[in-house]
Amino acid sequence: MNATTPTQREPVRTIFQKGAPGRRAFVCPTVDVPAPEVSQLLPERFRRAQPPRLPEVSEPEIVRHYVGISKRNFDLDSGFYPLGSCTMKHNPRLHERVAALPGHARLHPLQDVERAQGALELMWKLQGALAEISGLPYVSLQPSAGSHGELAGVLLTRAYHEDRGESRHKVLAPDTSHGTNPATVTMAGLELVKLATGADGGIDIDDLRAKADEDVACLMLTNPNTLGLFDANIVEIAEIIHGVGATLYYDGANLNAVMGLSRPGDMGFDIVHFNLHKSFTQPHGGGGPGSGPIAVSERIEPFLPVPVIARAADGSFTLEYQRAKSIGRMRGFQGNYGCFVRAYAYICSLGAEGLRDVSEAAVLNANYLLARLRQLGVAEHLPLAYGELCMHEFVLNGGPMKRELKIKTLDLAKRLLDFGFHPPTVYFPLLVEEALMVEPTETETRETLDAFAQAIAAILHEAAEDPMIAQNAPYSTPVRRLDEVAAAKHPVIREALD
Ligand SMILES: Cc1ncc(COP(=O)(O)O)c(C=O)c1O
Repeated sequence: MNATTPTQREPVRTIFQKGAPGRRAFVCPTVDVPAPEVSQLLPERFRRAQPPRLPEVSEPEIVRHYVGISKRNFDLDSGFYPLGSCTMKHNPRLHERVAALPGHARLHPLQDVERAQGALELMWKLQGALAEISGLPYVSLQPSAGSHGELAGVLLTRAYHEDRGESRHKVLAPDTSHGTNPATVTMAGLELVKLATGADGGIDIDDLRAKADEDVACLMLTNPNTLGLFDANIVEIAEIIHGVGATLYYDGANLNAVMGLSRPGDMGFDIVHFNLHKSFTQPHGGGGPGSGPIAVSERIEPFLPVPVIARAADGSFTLEYQRAKSIGRMRGFQGNYGCFVRAYAYICSLGAEGLRDVSEAAVLNANYLLARLRQLGVAEHLPLAYGELCMHEFVLNGGPMKRELKIKTLDLAKRLLDFGFHPPTVYFPLLVEEALMVEPTETETRETLDAFAQAIAAILHEAAEDPMIAQNAPYSTPVRRLDEVAAAKHPVIREALD
């Protein structure tokens, strides 16, 4: 298999550096009504002495500018994107058609409830489907991302304990947990206590017993966890947590392994959040807004965010604001409605059996890829970190590769770009040395999985001959190795990059 040839590197210019004074892409019609005073349009304190400088470009220049930038990017529509924990699956075009229907796309967030009955019905039905999938009966669609759903969930837990006159300040989470879990705990004003991972890749039960006490508000858990393993001790874990009066929180960002197969509610969880922009196919990663609904058990329901969608006896829908124990609003309006439409279209077009097929195929694809990598001899340098099989994703240990072939996981990831693949997630979970976390998803073909496995084998083979090739990769991308720390801390977004 050959890497692509290097493309010519053109200088990147911002749209402000293009065009010429007076050039326009759009001509506003002449005002044929009395023009209002500027002061009526914008209060004095918001006005500048000079209007802001805008790009002066023609329509073809705008189109070429943005199409050109988009071609420099790597996206799911152009190639395999096996980011672990992120579920970069195909976004069916049917969903876009449905979301673009005028009744959905032109709905105004301030529309009267009486005139938004169809939208409320769709949201109500989506809530019902998510309740069924999670095994938890009450749903709020409000949160705008997985991490926002987590925050809602931890605030719900806090409100639940406070209502019982308890002040619990600790939240338990395993050392494999997604970075947003500890961040959420801190944002909610609680204290994080980390749980160790046992030899089987699940929670170390002795450590859990030692740390579960009456100061614990909840345990946050992902199952299957970020090692791609289902924690078979979940019933015992739930008993320990409920035994000390705490709640059990399911980080359901990624449900791709379990839809239609197992339900957090049946495992004993009290609260779960979903990432509609993962398992339920919303475009994400810069491709669109997110949505992180939550589902909860009966004892948590009184605390749900307001407004809650309610159905009257005559079948009409209303928004309920008067709920004495609610944690309040998590955001303006009802959430990202376009995400609800797409997720609902996905659930309806697949049905219960189809969702189950999705999860089974996701698990099958991940295990197929793992087996293919083993068959190609990759496991010698990149062994599976824990276990033998996986659920929807797996984590490889890059330690032997680093020691024996002198290339790091980062080098492998960068070299994959030259083979036309987006790299998997790297260096997460933190407890795995030189971690490489791969989630192929159910929408990839066998040929793609084979080609990816061959690319990894080829890179390792190449590194055995000359590690410098991977160490200096990529060669074919518009930019080579970036100073990622500087890029994050001092982003240059208003000047030419070259
Ligand atoms: C396991 C897990 N939990 C939580 C999140 C947070 O979701 P979001 O990025 O939508 O805030 C993610 C995704 O990044 C995740 O993979």
